[in-house]
Amino acid sequence: MKILVVGTGARENVICESLKDHAELYSIMSNKNPGISRISEYKIADENDLETVKQFAINNNVEMAIIGPESPLEKGIVDYLENAGINCVGPTQSAARIETDKSFMRKLFEDYKIEGSLVYKVFDDYSDASKFIDEFEKDVVIKPVGLTGGKGVKIVGEHLKDTNEAKKYAKEVIDNKMGGFAKVVIEEKLIGEEFTLQAFSDGNNLVPMPAVQDHPHAFEGDKGPITGGMGSYSDRGGLLPFLTKKDYDRAVNIMKNTISAIKKETGPYKGFLYGQFMLCADGPRLIEYNARFGDPEAMNVLPLIETNFIEICENIVDGTLKKAKFKDKATVCKYLVPNGYPEHGKAGQALDVKEEQIRNKGALLYYAAVNQKDHKIFTSSSRALALVGIGDSIAEAEKTCESVMGYVEGDLFHRRDVGTAALIQKRIDHINKLKNNLHN
Ligand code: GLY
Repeated sequence: MKILVVGTGARENVICESLKDHAELYSIMSNKNPGISRISEYKIADENDLETVKQFAINNNVEMAIIGPESPLEKGIVDYLENAGINCVGPTQSAARIETDKSFMRKLFEDYKIEGSLVYKVFDDYSDASKFIDEFEKDVVIKPVGLTGGKGVKIVGEHLKDTNEAKKYAKEVIDNKMGGFAKVVIEEKLIGEEFTLQAFSDGNNLVPMPAVQDHPHAFEGDKGPITGGMGSYSDRGGLLPFLTKKDYDRAVNIMKNTISAIKKETGPYKGFLYGQFMLCADGPRLIEYNARFGDPEAMNVLPLIETNFIEICENIVDGTLKKAKFKDKATVCKYLVPNGYPEHGKAGQALDVKEEQIRNKGALLYYAAVNQKDHKIFTSSSRALALVGIGDSIAEAEKTCESVMGYVEGDLFHRRDVGTAALIQKRIDHINKLKNNLHN
């Protein structure tokens, strides 16, 4: 089968790797990702240039397209390709609003009485927003309504010192139409542990994957600015050391109710759905949805998939999704990023990647925002490559992952603490403390 994968990063690299044994692969990427270019017929082009993507697909008789990032989804790539007769794994422009329009997402929870939401308000008037922040009894989170490449969300106590800074930022969001809307979403700040639940959806049936925990802060000990994600882990049994089966099932249920609500509002949601949850003392609450796989979280789940991934994608398209089987293993993924990332990542440096040694140690490697020129690999200012260890425990997976870090040479850094026993214990203690406080 001829399959087109749209997107350039490590998420698209792992998607391609999961398809390559049974598909003839085509890809559109904005720069030359060495992991993707070696296993596909590729074109370097803007992923948001819908006409170029469509012509490339038509010229190559592509039968199915898989959309990696959110930005072409927002532009309506699925509607565009489907109109040209190309089946797509990815939601239509209106169904993708679950990610691209946060006010739509919150209203859906409200209208369909889906559990796991939170206190929120959407404002287009600064004085109303300011009054709400002053009168609200808890700390708040300020969000632009639309897409901002992961850079728009600011939390009081983390990025914003106090309510004055929160009000100032809310004004900036409205005045500058951040994310494309002259509106701001103000939400209550949740206290708990974040986790990611990804699922396949054919519009009616939702098939969940193992839970994952990402590490968005740049530096060890969860310090520093928020990034695209510095690394992530998953555990055997599909749960996490702080996440019970009951809470996992509640999160799955929230996602099931969401796709059935979206179907009524916009038509069926077909593709990958990413739920970012906060596990609070009283259970999981939905922070936000993404209409795609997570990055790095895709690298925790796709290498474990035992069901033929192409079959899953076909079932998503034709609405016959049933189940997906995953190996019962733990995974740890760590990103190597250029020094100075995320604000001033050192771009243009050549990397020396000893791929064979990495493979010999049993680890996996996925290239992200790098560019290959004349057999050399150069950094951009963003995340460079991800290394993944798989094992019978998180500790074993973490050890494998760390053991190959030295096989990549360049001015890079990574978070050594991702997947370590000490950091995981901190998560468990945090949740236990919150649950004890609730019951006492
Ligand atoms: N790991 C965060 C994201 O994929 O958006």
